[in-house]
Amino acid sequence: MAKLHINNRKKVSHINPEIYGHFSEHLGRCIYEGIYVGENSEIPNINGMRCDVVEALKELQVPVLRWPGGCFADEYHWKDGIGPKETRKKMINTHWGGVIEDNSFGTHEFFELARQLGCKTYINGNVGSGTVQEMSEWVEYMTFSGVSPMADLRKKNGHEEAWHVDYFGVGNENWGCGGNMRPSYYADLYRRYQTYVRNYNPEHPIFKVCGGANVEDYHWTKTVLDVTHDHTPKEFHGFMDGLSLHYYVHPEGWEIKGSATEFDDKVWYKTLAKALFMDELVTKHGKIMDTYDPDKKIGMIVDEWGTWYTCEPGTNPGFLYQQSTVRDALVAGLTLNVFNKHSDRVKMANLAQMVNVLQSVILTDGDKMIKTPTYHVMHQYRYHQDGDLLASDLADVTMIQSEEWSVPQVTESVSEDTNGVITVTLNNCSITDAEKVELSFADGCYEVFEASVVTGEIHAHNTFDAPEVVKEVPFADYVNKDATVDVTLPPASVTMLRLKRVAR
Ligand code: AHR
Repeated sequence: MAKLHINNRKKVSHINPEIYGHFSEHLGRCIYEGIYVGENSEIPNINGMRCDVVEALKELQVPVLRWPGGCFADEYHWKDGIGPKETRKKMINTHWGGVIEDNSFGTHEFFELARQLGCKTYINGNVGSGTVQEMSEWVEYMTFSGVSPMADLRKKNGHEEAWHVDYFGVGNENWGCGGNMRPSYYADLYRRYQTYVRNYNPEHPIFKVCGGANVEDYHWTKTVLDVTHDHTPKEFHGFMDGLSLHYYVHPEGWEIKGSATEFDDKVWYKTLAKALFMDELVTKHGKIMDTYDPDKKIGMIVDEWGTWYTCEPGTNPGFLYQQSTVRDALVAGLTLNVFNKHSDRVKMANLAQMVNVLQSVILTDGDKMIKTPTYHVMHQYRYHQDGDLLASDLADVTMIQSEEWSVPQVTESVSEDTNGVITVTLNNCSITDAEKVELSFADGCYEVFEASVVTGEIHAHNTFDAPEVVKEVPFADYVNKDATVDVTLPPASVTMLRLKRVAR
């Protein structure tokens, strides 16, 4: 039996809701069809956003949405996506599938989507192929409420009020699709471009995100911080609020990737071990950040994460459409536990991507919509949003060894909300074995009052014909004892427990 001791006297860090953020790119059927169908569609919509998808997303309490990319961001010229739709430029989406981008979803539509979702906004600017002027004018267009050429243009296009831009990314993957730059060159560009990301609304300053590393490119992190912090006065507030990190799990590596639904037990464990590599990445990039920013004022922004498989057979390879099984539920559970545990440094994370692309929470087919196993895990974990991470220690955990890959059978994270309710999320990585976990507390007695689980045969997934094969269901395999709680985790499962203090 594993033992989870929860030190509820020790709050470690605050879990920013944005750790549960999402990402939507002009890629495949994410924006078009997946979210936006246009006002004239027969699919029920409000101002072009499909109602079924928005309603499902609202249940996740989406805290923040990143847009328009991704690689698309560094080819996106925002002025193509404003004004009357019939006059908007049609162009080829060169990066993703070579399809026609008619720009019918642009800045106004993005803010309408964010309004409907009730979420914060994360705009990614174009450094790779855009100018400083273009970026600076976009910020003016979105956020300036006075009299200016861009604010006037926004008003002419039907939006009187300035919007709030909560987060702004200065480029994306500038080591790759965002311009193939060297870190020192990008860092100089960051210094320059960010200067003109003006804070027109001092009461709502924009959180500026500098383009960070790919996976374990620690040289990028170090060089970018070196160059950006050289000659930068310490009091230069708002110069760099966040530094990004991208990491995708490819079970068989970048070239082959691997099937989303057909894999053996070895690939299951390899995938989960690769998901847990996120812990090492966050730790090591975090240590470099600590040397420049010991007070952890700069947030680590993991604005792209998730599984990336070979696309579904018969679909456009440029659309990155993939299925999602119980394995993805585990990847989500493991990764979100890692982010919670590092919430002193990780301030936002964006699952890639929201609908129909990579590890989506929702898949659509015409007017049909299904929730993926990952959706259900995000729903379970929503209780961690805005909580305080509690110190916790998991002992006597079995290590599972499969070839050279090793994973702990159980991982966990624990938070407390403002009402004193504790949320515990536990993953059982074993394909075959249930595992008992005994929960104990440093202070007082607690009882489980609500619990759910996402589990199933490891390849199980939802389809448009069978949409509820994998879903969040009530969980009852726990015993509230005098001072402890015993839980039995089924194999291949993500379990969420809510506990309240009781007098004994
Ligand atoms: O999410 C798909 C792509 O992955 C993004 O466009 C890019 O930033 C990353 O390489």
